Amino acid sequence: FAYENILVEVRGPVGLIRLNRPKALNALSDGLVTDLEDALNRLEDDAAIGAIVVTGSERAFAAGADIKEMQSKTYMDAYLGDFITKKWGRLATCRKPTIAAVAGYALGGGCELAMMADILLAADTAKFGQPEITIGTIPGAGGTQRLTRAIGKAKAMELVLTGRMMDAAEAERAGLVARIVPAAELVEEAVRVAEKICGYSRPVTMMAKEAVGRAYEMTLTEGLLLERRLFHSTFALEDQKEGMGAFVEKRPPQFKGK
Ligand code: HXC
Repeated sequence: FAYENILVEVRGPVGLIRLNRPKALNALSDGLVTDLEDALNRLEDDAAIGAIVVTGSERAFAAGADIKEMQSKTYMDAYLGDFITKKWGRLATCRKPTIAAVAGYALGGGCELAMMADILLAADTAKFGQPEITIGTIPGAGGTQRLTRAIGKAKAMELVLTGRMMDAAEAERAGLVARIVPAAELVEEAVRVAEKICGYSRPVTMMAKEAVGRAYEMTLTEGLLLERRLFHSTFALEDQKEGMGAFVEKRPPQFKGK
């Protein structure tokens, strides 16, 4: 788990990824997203890991795609290379629950990356925005789509068209973040949330996130059907028998992940 642009730690069942390019406010260079994709692949494949936390530094989660790297790209570079979501989209396709813990700037691609996680926790210092318009481009990794679904057209349109930043309180009111945490406790709290999730049945946590995630992809009727089928399928698990049995017997459940 040695990388140039990120730090990866395993804390019991939790994989903790810290974006680590402090000199560039964690700008998402090709090197960084290559490291991130590889770490996510490894944590997803590691049977001991039940949830993944992605965080940055106190100053920045990530200040966007790396502008110095991007500036000279041609249309063909961007199109043929499928710039840039091919690699960092890996966070959105994780099957294990993911948490983005955001302190400081989450701008452009940084905000888009955070929105790919299942749960977004913000430090009181967090600032979110899609400033692409100020550098002559538009969001390219979900900033016009996930942001609009998360906070609605009125605010998304204003943020995308003006490049204005939202502070943590506004982001929470708008529904972008699950919760605000004091900056000094952010990472520990994110790991605690991840550990709590890891205490439940692994396949059930995966089904729960899959079902909520599909709410953004399907009609209500199809989504309800998928939910019901997944719900039914939990009855095939030993963990469902254990969970309900433990409740009835007034004892803590011991989930086995099967
Ligand atoms: C490359 C960046 C960077 C970025 C900051 N840096 N953001 N380098 N790409 N996105 C570098 C600066 O050049 C500087 O390096 C160092 O980090 C510190 O930044 P400062 O600007 O000196 O810090 P500060 O004055 O505190 O301002 C912080 C900031 C500002 C407000 C976050 O850095 C900023 O506006 N950054 C750009 C934000 C942005 O436009 N992001 C969207 C990118 S487009 P040096 O070497 O000078 O010290 C995008 C498209 C996504 O994300 C599309 C997805 C497909």
